[in-house]
Amino acid sequence: MRVLVTGGAGYIGSHTVRELIKAGHRVVVLDNLSKGHEEAVSEAELVKGDVSDRTLLEDLFGRYRVEAVVHFAASSLVGESVANPAVYYHNNLTKGLVLLDVMIENGIRYLVFSSTAAVYGEPQVIPIAEDHPALPANPYGATKLAFENALPWYGRAYGLRSVSLRYFNAAGADPAGDIGEDHDPETHLIPLVLKVALNLLPSLDVFGTDYPTPDGSCIRDYIHVTDLAAAHVLALEALAVGRRSTVYNLGNGSGYSVLEVIRAAEDVTGRPITVDFAGRRPGDPAALVAGAEKIKAELGWQPRFNDLRTIIETAWQWHRKHPYGYKGVDQRPATVGE
Ligand code: UFG
Repeated sequence: MRVLVTGGAGYIGSHTVRELIKAGHRVVVLDNLSKGHEEAVSEAELVKGDVSDRTLLEDLFGRYRVEAVVHFAASSLVGESVANPAVYYHNNLTKGLVLLDVMIENGIRYLVFSSTAAVYGEPQVIPIAEDHPALPANPYGATKLAFENALPWYGRAYGLRSVSLRYFNAAGADPAGDIGEDHDPETHLIPLVLKVALNLLPSLDVFGTDYPTPDGSCIRDYIHVTDLAAAHVLALEALAVGRRSTVYNLGNGSGYSVLEVIRAAEDVTGRPITVDFAGRRPGDPAALVAGAEKIKAELGWQPRFNDLRTIIETAWQWHRKHPYGYKGVDQRPATVGE
C-alpha cells in the first residue's frame, strides 16, 4: 500500500517505517522534526511539516496517492502532559482531528493509530486486557483515549477503518544497530541505565522502593520496538483485507521490576550500574503488564524479541555505537566511558 506515516522520524515511527518498507509498502513520512531525527528515516521520503497543515496534507495525499495513514505524530511525556495539558490536547487531539478531516475529504479510509497503555490509568487487574476500564491518570493518556474514542464514530459516519495500538513499554533498537532510541530529554528507564553504563550519567535514580511488588520497585512490560513495528504492518494489512476496526494491546505479557532491568543491563553490558534509591515518581502505577492475547489470536502477531536480555542487548548495541544518539561525533563531550 502507499502509506503516509506521521511522526515517522521518531523512535517507534522510524522502526515502523523500516518494517513497512521491508513488507513491500511505499512510505512517505511527515514529521515536523520537533522530536524526530532525519537520520532515522533515510530509507523513506521525508516531508518536513506539521500534521495540522491541511494544505500540505492535501498535497501529500494527492501527490503520493496515499491509501492509508499510520499516525504517530504526538507529544508523549506523561510529566509534561500534567504540567501543560493544553499542549497535549492541541497536539494529540486537535491536530489529530485535522488529519482525520483531510483523510476523509480525500477518501482515505485506513488508519493505524499509535496509542498507549496510559489510557488505562491505575490497573484494577493484571494482566490488563483491552476491556479493562480506561480511566487515564494524566493528560497524555486522556488525549490518546479521546482520539481513540472518536474513531468508531468516524467509522460509522464516514467509513473510516482503524486500529488503535496500545503500547506498553517500548524498548530496544533495530538489530541492525543503525536506528534506535534518542529522546531529548531522555526519561525512559533502559536508555538511562545504558547511559550510566557508558559513563554518560553518574547514576540512575530508582523511583520508588516501597511499591507492593516483590522487590519494591515498579514492574513494567517491556516490548521490543521491532515487535511493535511489526504489529503496525499486520494491523494495516488486516484493514486492507476488510478486517473490522478495533483496539489491541501490545506487550509481552511478562513484567520486570526496575531492579531486574538494572541487573539484566549489568549482565548484558558487563558494567556496574550505580543507582540512587529515590522516592516514587508521581503518577507511576506499581505494575503494568499487558494482556496481548487478542492481537495474537486475531492477527497472528508473535513477539520475536520477547526476553528482557535480548531487548537490552539490542538497545546496548545502539547506545554503544551512538552514545550521543543521532548527533555527530564532533558534538561529543571529551569523555565517553567505553
Ligand atoms: N524509572 C526509574 N528511574 C528512571 C526512569 C524510570 O526508576 O530514571 C522507572 C519508572 O518509575 C517506571 C519504570 O522505570 O517504573 C519505567 O519508566 P519509563 O519512564 O521508562 O516508562 P513509563 O512506564 O513511565 O512510561 C511508559 C511510556 C509512556 C506511557 C506509559 C504507560 O514511556 O509513554 O508507559 O503507562 F505513557
